[in-house]
Amino acid sequence: MALRKILTKGDPTLSKVSRPVISFDHRLHILLDDLKETLVDANGAGLAAPQVGILRRVVIVVDGEENMLELINPEVISSEGEQDGFEGCLSVPGYWGMVKRPLKARVRAQDRDGNFFEVDGEGIVARCFCHEIDHLDGHLFTEHTDRLYTSEELEELMEQQSGESKP
Ligand code: NI
Repeated sequence: MALRKILTKGDPTLSKVSRPVISFDHRLHILLDDLKETLVDANGAGLAAPQVGILRRVVIVVDGEENMLELINPEVISSEGEQDGFEGCLSVPGYWGMVKRPLKARVRAQDRDGNFFEVDGEGIVARCFCHEIDHLDGHLFTEHTDRLYTSEELEELMEQQSGESKP
């Protein structure tokens, strides 16, 4: 296993469309293991192969039980509701934006051996499914938000909001 370098906004690879995986071979397994190691090292909630320069439809998403889901050729097949929330990205370090996403999403994907399965996500997990699958089509969350906040600005905003909600 090895840590891979995470590309940041401005790198042209991040705006390209990734190709489907057709070979569920050793190379794919190495990529999956490296993505997981890189994600843990970066302390993120999800990572897509194009973020490490590999234009293949492969993503890792951390689910509600802290498991790392391996999703190959993932597609959102149904979604429900809406949520507004702050979103960040390992490829846009230090910036956050308010992004509207579905509250629930069901994803159909393949596992590392090519078997199809479906998985449901709610809240942050549904947000992460949509965010990571966007990467596979060359899209960043910054396209879905009106303004970007720095970490400091976000912290201030959160403090104000928690102050307001106190009785
Ligand atoms: Ni991202």
